[in-house]
Amino acid sequence: DWTPAHFIDQTVEELRQKIGEDRVLLGLSGGVDSSVAAMLLHRAIGDRLFCFFIDNGLLRKGEFEEVEQSYEGMGLNVSAIDAKQEFYDALAGESDPEKKRKAIGRVFIEVFEREAKTLTNIKYLAQGTIYPDVIESVSVHGPSVTIKSHHNVGGLPEKMGLKIVEPLRNLFKDEVRRVGTQLGMPAHLIGRHPFPGPGLAIRILGDITPAKVHLLQEADAIYIDKMREYGLYDQVWQAGTILLPVQSVGVMGDERTYEQAVALRAVSSTDGMTAEWSHLPYEFLAAVSSSIINNVKGINRVVYDISTKPPATIEWE
Ligand code: XMP
Repeated sequence: DWTPAHFIDQTVEELRQKIGEDRVLLGLSGGVDSSVAAMLLHRAIGDRLFCFFIDNGLLRKGEFEEVEQSYEGMGLNVSAIDAKQEFYDALAGESDPEKKRKAIGRVFIEVFEREAKTLTNIKYLAQGTIYPDVIESVSVHGPSVTIKSHHNVGGLPEKMGLKIVEPLRNLFKDEVRRVGTQLGMPAHLIGRHPFPGPGLAIRILGDITPAKVHLLQEADAIYIDKMREYGLYDQVWQAGTILLPVQSVGVMGDERTYEQAVALRAVSSTDGMTAEWSHLPYEFLAAVSSSIINNVKGINRVVYDISTKPPATIEWE
């Protein structure tokens, strides 16, 4: 029978056999998968694991700093890389969802390769790929149609001449979380909702500017904090706020406003491949809505997304 403890023992042993005395590089995303992959490798090869954590300027409010501290607390050997401006420059003026994903993937590879040159003797690139990623990339990248280019770093290992290590390749998300818990990973990291690699860039419809990122971060922080406050965070698979390219009329005091709208999204799912919109309590939605509208200047309307996947996707882009 599968148990996290047994999986860890076996995988650590396999990683040691495979890697020997070589050095491994891993890109941390802040998410559960790459973090658990890093902990497993750290257990297997200690400080011969080198981790990059790249700030693409598209994470949630305060998240980069928070997660970086957790990584240090976990004993990982992490270089934090501030590449915000490079990502913003590459995204400037681009509104097409696929082109945004590709631009982010391209800059990620550029930054990653550049930083990797500062290290010597790396033989392996580790990735936090899990089983649903394997399936989804097969079906999504079918010959005739690409729905979304999920794996924006595909091709990186070949390009860098590195061999791949994917210790979580056969696991589902819930198994990854159990492994993380067994490895002593902090609960707030384990329980984190999935978050897309291209980050807030695919939750801002249309082109990306630092000001829009900031606006969305503020609204999203209110949504997610309230979700924790109401005890709802752990009950949904994933939640996020979407900045819509729409302005609408409102009234604030005696003033007419003409400002942007955000959509709130929350879904239940087991693997992200299908999803049901979450039936969040109205009183919660009301509290989030008034807090966003009263506190985030520039947003005067909040809507709730009640679409199921399929045919809608979880992300809007
Ligand atoms: P969709 O929107 O396709 O999302 O229903 C399914 C799951 O995948 C995440 N997602 C991404 N993850 N790069 C990623 O690493 C991407 O480009 C990407 N697009 C969507 C999404 O957040 C959800 O968990």
